[in-house]
Amino acid sequence: MKRRVAILISGRGSNMVALVEAAKAVDFPAEIVAVISNRADAPGLQRASEAGVPTIVIESKPFGKDRAGFEAVLQRALDEKQVDLICLGGFMRLFTAEFVQRWHGRMLNIHPSLLPSFPGLDPHGQALRAGVKLSGATVHFVIPETDAGPIVMQGAVTVADDDTAETLAARVITIEHRIYPEALRLLASGKLKLEGDLCKVAGSADRDATLISPRTI
Ligand code: GAR
Repeated sequence: MKRRVAILISGRGSNMVALVEAAKAVDFPAEIVAVISNRADAPGLQRASEAGVPTIVIESKPFGKDRAGFEAVLQRALDEKQVDLICLGGFMRLFTAEFVQRWHGRMLNIHPSLLPSFPGLDPHGQALRAGVKLSGATVHFVIPETDAGPIVMQGAVTVADDDTAETLAARVITIEHRIYPEALRLLASGKLKLEGDLCKVAGSADRDATLISPRTI
């Protein structure tokens, strides 16, 4: 039985499209049963419709600071769709600890940095200001703290001296689109095990890969 997944978005939805595309494969262990946006004007909604995925809008603005009120409506929609797993894809709203606890081990997020470095806003600007030579993206389980939680998968890119936040973001987003479907595949096929703050992956290989930056020869 395929696991039933809802993707939560607030904007462009390119990670959502990557997940939807991956889930079209007959052997993918999850199906995308809904794309839910907290903004009616999210461009990703149209992309989801075009891909034939049902969309739901639950505007969060009218709820103001009433997070629990918003989440009650969200939870009803998730129940109606019999959702097993949630993927956040640029979903720009914080959850209450209660909602996060309810979805413990069943909700993933993606963030465009090598966490725990550079959580929050402007991760690429933070990376450039720190002068790191490698950056990347992280898929992690959601916990109450923002952009934190057991790390499922990471992908790295080199950072060049003349990178801007835009050029770095363009390189990192291609990594995001590769690792998010793979992380969801692992979760949906039962290959992930949470051990406290850590996520262990059954059968992970490739211990010897290295990425060195800058290359000096
Ligand atoms: C992605 O880069 C994602 O990693 C980031 O928002 C972007 C959404 O793009 N998420 C965060 O920064 C979470 N703190 P998308 O709508 O095209 O997938």
